[in-house]
Amino acid sequence: MDKFVVRGGNPLLGTIKISGAKNSALPCMAAAILTEDEVILENVPQVRDIETERRLLESMGAEVELGYGRAQHRTRIKCAVLSDPVAKYEIVKTMRASSLVLGPLIARTGIARVAMPGGCAIGGRPIDLHIKGLEAMGATITQEHGYLEARADRLKGAHIVFDKITVTGTEDLLMAAVLAEGETLFENCAREPEVTDLAALLIAMGANITGAGTSTIRVVGTQKLHGARHRINPDRIEAGTFLIAGAITGGDLNIDGCNPSHLGSVLAKLDQCGVRLDIGDESVRVRSGGELRATDVLTEEYPGFPTDMQAQYMALATQTDGITVVTENIFENRFMHVQELNRMGANISVSGRTATVRGRYPLQSAAVMCSDLRASASLVLAALVADGETILDRVYHLDRGYERFEEKLRGVGAQIRRMGEVFGKK
Ligand code: EPZ
Repeated sequence: MDKFVVRGGNPLLGTIKISGAKNSALPCMAAAILTEDEVILENVPQVRDIETERRLLESMGAEVELGYGRAQHRTRIKCAVLSDPVAKYEIVKTMRASSLVLGPLIARTGIARVAMPGGCAIGGRPIDLHIKGLEAMGATITQEHGYLEARADRLKGAHIVFDKITVTGTEDLLMAAVLAEGETLFENCAREPEVTDLAALLIAMGANITGAGTSTIRVVGTQKLHGARHRINPDRIEAGTFLIAGAITGGDLNIDGCNPSHLGSVLAKLDQCGVRLDIGDESVRVRSGGELRATDVLTEEYPGFPTDMQAQYMALATQTDGITVVTENIFENRFMHVQELNRMGANISVSGRTATVRGRYPLQSAAVMCSDLRASASLVLAALVADGETILDRVYHLDRGYERFEEKLRGVGAQIRRMGEVFGKK
């Protein structure tokens, strides 16, 4: 069980290069199921969830090469034969996004068996909307022994209105629709850049999709799709996390290789806090003099403030003067970081989906426990300004979605080191 040791107090200075987006790469890897040709993805981050997806696809019969052609961030996937179209529980239980293979599997093979994902630290994470959409497209779905089985000779186009906005639900059903017979109209879709990124790959593979990135998407199904090469978007949540690292430490950081147009709500919020931002075409420079104004936030679907930035923002809020009200509208249990931040000297109280952060309280080092991906990032941000040396346990949560996190921070002056094995290096 590896840990981080972080000594606080250093303002971060310099440039951090952003990696590819995990939440784009995961659906794009699943999209390779839709063709027997090879799909090449560039800018795939080397994080644990990508390794998990590699194992999942290989377990079904796919050829998957991470770091293809000695290009560290290139992935080659070829699903010529899918000998075992089953997403097994021992893999699905470690990564809920495994449900993203459901739509492409049934579209390609006519059958899919996927272990029900179950919940995780931040919520129940149901996939009822994925199931409802597939049934509307003519799939027969049964659930037994913890597995969901979907069958269809060939899916048929349908008119699907999502009861709730769901990112992977939109992605999963988009991948089902591209090989369906006829036209599918989706309404109340997720508008996240990761949906748009997936649609760009599918279109490169020969799919007929219009409206991705808006709440209405139209798909005209085709008989077959062919291989393609596609470059994954930069990770907007990683970029937002490091923007807050620059702000909270009173530093001067250049976040390079990001897409500022995907960060509108985060940049606006940091601006309201009094952080200085210089926004370029593919970079953002963040400077902070240390005086930060308390500014309320509520998480919403894109383009609103991302739930995946809520925990990181809360760490910043502990260092602002005044009271910040944080409202989590997307997940029912995404305040796991609050208790740990309070153990470091923060003053945060929770009532239902609302957390009230009283600042400014100086943070002290402590031994803390990571509970999920973004809560882990929040605790590192707090440790960067805590007095003394903080020990963070269970950082494997962080390795799921951040590439070389501690190296990138060390490169701009943070005093952070890992104890225990390093992911990806034996
Ligand atoms: C995606 O999860 C992201 N994961 C999450 O990022 C992100 O927090 C989330 O979208 C919201 O932006 C990936 O893209 C792999 P949802 P997803 O379906 O698709 C409810 C991270 O930190 N819902 O948009 O699973 C659900 O319970 C991760 O990188 C249903 O009720 O989220 C939630 O309350 C964490 N039924 C809300 O909708 C369904 O069938 C939004 O969930 C599906 C979802």
